[in-house]
Amino acid sequence: MASHFFFLCTLLTFSLSFHVILGAIPKYVVINEAPTHGGGIKFVKVIGGIPYTQKIMRHINKFIWYKVFKQNTPADQKPLDNVTVFIKDFVGAEGIAWGNDKINISAVFLRDYPGPMDLKWIFTSLMHHEMTHVLQWNGEGKTPAPLVEGIADYTVLKANYNPPGFNKPGSGDKWDQGYDYTARFLEYCDELVPDFVAKLNNMMRKTYDVSFFQNLTGKPVEGLWKDYKAKYANKASEGIKS
Ligand SMILES: *[C@@H]1O[C@H](CO)[C@@H](O)[C@H](O)[C@H]1NC(C)=O
Ligand SMILES: *[C@@H]1O[C@H](CO)[C@@H](O)[C@H](O)[C@H]1NC(C)=O
Ligand SMILES: *[C@@H]1O[C@H](CO)[C@@H](O)[C@H](O)[C@H]1NC(C)=O
Ligand SMILES: [Zn+2]
Repeated sequence: MASHFFFLCTLLTFSLSFHVILGAIPKYVVINEAPTHGGGIKFVKVIGGIPYTQKIMRHINKFIWYKVFKQNTPADQKPLDNVTVFIKDFVGAEGIAWGNDKINISAVFLRDYPGPMDLKWIFTSLMHHEMTHVLQWNGEGKTPAPLVEGIADYTVLKANYNPPGFNKPGSGDKWDQGYDYTARFLEYCDELVPDFVAKLNNMMRKTYDVSFFQNLTGKPVEGLWKDYKAKYANKASEGIKS
């Protein structure tokens, strides 16, 4: 009896600590709402369906926490129980992150994607972008959308999932042009200050102010943009092969 009790206690202790350690990792829920749609069929047959999606979500989640945002402890990370992906018949975007923890991927996009990358590759690239939205801080809604999008594309760039056509360094007219324009500018800021994007993201947990750029680099964002454009003044048009 005593050894039985000891065994039970050990088991309980083990499962409790197990739970605490894994507690921070969300559950990945994937729902194919378009199983008979051309895109829903390709999702299963070409991409690898729910098992592949859950596998890369876990991988991307860790990549974003540890490599992009440098959030090594649960206290730094956005707490999430589930992250849910719907494969769904809609037009207007390739994918959209919504709510606190949900992503919709367009079955129309999956059906009609023309290449040149293969479908599984571009899906994985898109998932890096959308997973960033789920995991990033946005100053409780105060971070401007172009910066939010720039950080999502910065993850794509860091993961080497930037598709052909992703902007080269030095592109654009303003720092907050969004998406790959802003991602390239953030990459430059990272050269000036190691882990710039991680630090910026972590400052945006509760609020946002453009002075965060100056706080981290010592220069206002407009000055950083001028320096960035000057650095690439003659190179942007040459096009750097990637
Ligand atoms: C998480 O997903 C599961 C389905 O796998 C569901 O039963 C549960 O209610 C979800 N939890 C939350 C908090 O949404
Ligand atoms: C995403 O898809 C879900 C499930 O079909 C739907 O309820 C939700 O309204 C969609 N969200 C957006 C932003 O389109
Ligand atoms: C950056 O912000 C922190 C926290 O508000 C502050 O202590 C620090 O002095 C600021 N640094 C600069 C260079 O503005
Ligand atoms: Zn986005």
